[in-house]
Amino acid sequence: MIQEQEHIVTLVINQSIEMGEFGIQEAIQLFELYGLPYQQLFKSYFPINQFPKKYEITSQTLGNYPFVDVQLKDLDLIPKVLSRSILIHDILYTISRGNTIDELPKNLLPQAAHYFQNPNLSCKCDIITSYFKITQEKRVELIEYIFGEQGFNSQNTINLTEPDIFYYVIITKDQKYVVGCTLTNKKKKREKNFARNYELSNRIYLGPVSLAHDLAFLMANQAQVQENDFVFDPFAGTGSSLVACSHFGAICFGSEIDGNLMKGHCIGYINKKSTYLKDPNYQQVKPFINMNFHQYNLPIPNLIQSDVHLPTFNPKIDQFFDAIICDPPYGIRASIQQEGNEQDLQANRTAIYKRMFEVARKVLRKGGRLVYLYPLFKGMEKKVEKEEGFELIDFREQKMVEKRSRLLITMERL
Ligand SMILES: C[S@@+](CC[C@H](N)C(=O)[O-])C[C@H]1O[C@@H](n2cnc3c(N)ncnc32)[C@H](O)[C@@H]1O
Repeated sequence: MIQEQEHIVTLVINQSIEMGEFGIQEAIQLFELYGLPYQQLFKSYFPINQFPKKYEITSQTLGNYPFVDVQLKDLDLIPKVLSRSILIHDILYTISRGNTIDELPKNLLPQAAHYFQNPNLSCKCDIITSYFKITQEKRVELIEYIFGEQGFNSQNTINLTEPDIFYYVIITKDQKYVVGCTLTNKKKKREKNFARNYELSNRIYLGPVSLAHDLAFLMANQAQVQENDFVFDPFAGTGSSLVACSHFGAICFGSEIDGNLMKGHCIGYINKKSTYLKDPNYQQVKPFINMNFHQYNLPIPNLIQSDVHLPTFNPKIDQFFDAIICDPPYGIRASIQQEGNEQDLQANRTAIYKRMFEVARKVLRKGGRLVYLYPLFKGMEKKVEKEEGFELIDFREQKMVEKRSRLLITMERL
């Protein structure tokens, strides 16, 4: 029997302070979405009989994080995952590794040698470290040594703007070297930056608590939203989460208690900094949630004004949605979040989350995902209660201002 070959690739995960360890969560969900279970993805890190739960996999358990070595049989997963990831900075095909620089040419994968020997290929080389800084001088010196005659003896021409191939030398925390290259070309890399187009700073219509675009995309990835999925946000606000889901082709539904916020009569406002307003079509634009879909040529979602505590759907609607994605209010209403005593606010939060689960139990299909944010205030324990009818998939903390943070929680309907 012919064994399918496995390739080692290195995930370079963005170590963003604001996003905590959401990148690990995203890698797990995206590879799973494309058919690779996390036990396969991380098989080199844990013995089979001691495999942790998804939420137990952290930067501590993945040695050398944010560089994560995984084995792939199908390299086509790389562009698929990169095309929708927010926090996986890159995925590098590993071509050599060594305890010292001098070991690198000896350990070069035989099938990778032809890259270096091909003078028709143009390249760009860089060094990535994460635990220490290196000066520009040292960077150049290392690159020249590693890719020069004493190293890989590369015959490639150099092209810093549109190279055919990017080589990266990773220097790990324990000062070992991994050389990887990208197999995706520059154009694909640009596509990977799709999320930038959606930055809130350029969004036409904003509210007081519009969800940041990158978090909205991460949540859509946690929910593994795909084309033609039916997605619901019961606390739609200005529609950020639905914009992200719509980008992935979902058919979106939302409810929001504050009709004024949806229609721009009160706390919602036109973002004067949005470059879209320079477009003559948008110059007379009125504040309105639909503008946020119009500006990206996305279909207008199905929205209603409704209190989540009231029945929003026909009672016969059962297990209809593939995903629910939301950022519930931290107080009773976003507009009065800062008011009221903490006990009242906590009681309101408890009621809102209880209701969110009741709704999700009814309208989410089996296997569908509920992805939501949960605030943590000083003294609150970082844990997620068991919920009847749901399996906890993952939860991670996002640090915010001092003494405050929130959890990004993913549940699956049983
Ligand atoms: C944290 S914000 C969500 C913001 C939204 N993701 C966005 O991008 O604008 C919570 C939203 O829930 C709404 N809300 C508060 N109580 C509600 C209720 N009982 N039913 C439905 N929506 C409610 C608030 O008006 C607010 O817009």
